[in-house]
Amino acid sequence: MTPLGRQPARRPTAVLRRGAVLATVPAALAALLGATGPTPAGTAGASGAGDPYFPLSGNGGYHVRHYGLTLRYDTSSRHLDGRAVLSACATQNLSRFDLDLKGLKVTGVTVDGTPAAFRRAGQELVVTPRRTLRAGRDFRVTVTYDGTPKPVTDPDGSADGWIPTDDGAFVAGEPQGAMTWFPANSHPRDKSSYDITVTVPQGRTAVAGGVLLGQRTEHGRTTFHWRETEPTAAYLATVTIGKFKVEQYTTHDGIHVYNAVDPREASAAAPVLKKLPSVLAWESKLFGPYPFRSAGSIVDHAPDVGYALETQTRPLYDSAPDLSTLVHENAHQWFGDSVSLTAWKDIWLNEGFATYAEWLYAEQHGGDSAQKTFDALYARPANDHLWAFPPGDPGSGRNIFDTPVYARGAMTLHALRKAVGDRDFFRILRAWTAGHRGGHGTTAQFTGLAERISGKRLDGLFHTWLFTKGKPNSA
Ligand code: TRP
Ligand code: ZN
Repeated sequence: MTPLGRQPARRPTAVLRRGAVLATVPAALAALLGATGPTPAGTAGASGAGDPYFPLSGNGGYHVRHYGLTLRYDTSSRHLDGRAVLSACATQNLSRFDLDLKGLKVTGVTVDGTPAAFRRAGQELVVTPRRTLRAGRDFRVTVTYDGTPKPVTDPDGSADGWIPTDDGAFVAGEPQGAMTWFPANSHPRDKSSYDITVTVPQGRTAVAGGVLLGQRTEHGRTTFHWRETEPTAAYLATVTIGKFKVEQYTTHDGIHVYNAVDPREASAAAPVLKKLPSVLAWESKLFGPYPFRSAGSIVDHAPDVGYALETQTRPLYDSAPDLSTLVHENAHQWFGDSVSLTAWKDIWLNEGFATYAEWLYAEQHGGDSAQKTFDALYARPANDHLWAFPPGDPGSGRNIFDTPVYARGAMTLHALRKAVGDRDFFRILRAWTAGHRGGHGTTAQFTGLAERISGKRLDGLFHTWLFTKGKPNSA
C-alpha cells in the first residue's frame, strides 16, 4: 500500500496531495539519525499492490514520485529503446523491490547510480539494490531496456498496452498495459508526475499527456518532450505515435489544448473536437474546476482496438469519437484521473460517473432526460445481461468494463439524484472532486459523503443498486 492509499477520506486537498511526504517525515528523520548505524535488514517489497483482480499489478514497499522516460521508437522495425528513471521513496526498509514490466529486454538497472542485481519473473522485474533502502528514503532507479513491445491481453479478451498500428502505435494502459512499454509501479494506488521524451521518424508525431515542452527535428528524427506535473496513474500515461494533424490553442479558461488527429479520421472528428472547450466548460460547471492545465484529444485510426481511453489530460480514441464519447472520456478527467481508484473493484466510480455524465449532457442539450434513459434500461427483463452482477462488486477483472458497471453504475447515480434532489446531488459531486482532487477515493468514501451532504440515510439505496445481485425491485 502506498502512503497516499492510506490517507483518510476527506482531508483538504493540499494535505491529501502531500500525504506521501508527510507520512515519511518520521521515517526520514529516523533514517537520518540512524545514518551512521548498521544497515537495517529490510524486507522484500510485495510483488503486487494487493488488488485481488490484478494481484501482480503494482508493487509494495515504495512510491514513485516521478517517471522520466526517454524513448525511441522505430515505426518500421517496431523496435523500442527505453531508459526509465524513477524517482521513488521507500515506504519500508527495503531489501528488494519489484517493478512491473512485461516483455522487452532489460540491459541494466542502477539504484542511485550503483548497478543493482535484477531478474525477470513473469511481469515482475525484481531489483536488489546493493544496500537496503531505509524507510522514508528517496532513491532513484534507472532501467535501460529495449525490444519489440507487445500488447497484453486482458481477462475480458481485449488488448491493452502498446498496440502497433500501420503508422505507429496506439498506447493505452488500462487496466494493466503500462508495463508493456515502461517499468512501472502499475496500480492506480500509486500516482506520479511524468516527463516523457520520445524520438520517432520525422513525419510521425508522438503524443503524451500534459504540456509539450519542446519538439526538435534532427537527422530525420523528431523528438518530443512532454511533461505532466499532476499526479497520474500509470495506466493513464500514453505515447501514442502516428501521422497526425496537430491543432493547438488555449481556451478562455486558460487550458492548453493539443489535438492530434489521424488524417483518415479528420473530417469525422472535426465537428466533435470543436465542441471540446464547451464540453469542458459545461463539465466544470457541474463537476467543479477542470483538474488539469492541459487538455485535448488523440484521434488515432486503430480499427482493431475497439475502445477509447481517458488518458490524463488528453483522451485517446481509436477512431473519430461521437459527442457522447467525447463527453464520457473528458468526464473521466474528474472521475478516474483526478480522483483515482484504490482497487479495480471500485471501477463504477470511474465508468458509472462518466456514463452518467453522458446522460446529463443529453438531458441538458436537447436529448433524452436522464430519467428517460434510466426508465428504458430499467424496463429490461430480469434475465438481461444488464443485471448480471452488481456494479459495486463486479467479481473479477473480466467484468470491469462490462455493461452492469457502466449502465447500472449510472443508474445508481440517478437513483441517488432522485433520492437527494438536484441541489444536493451536484453538491455531492463537487465535494467529491474537490475533496479527493489529485488523490484517491473509495466507494465507501463516496457513499459516506453522500449521506453527510444530504443528511439522509442512503445505505439501503446503495446496498440495492451497488451490491445486490439481480434486478433491483424498485426503481
Ligand atoms: N475506460 C475506457 C472507457 O472510457 C474503456 C476501456 C479501457 C476498456 N480499457 C479497456 C474497455 C479495455 C475494454 C477493455 O470507457
Ligand atoms: Zn469510461
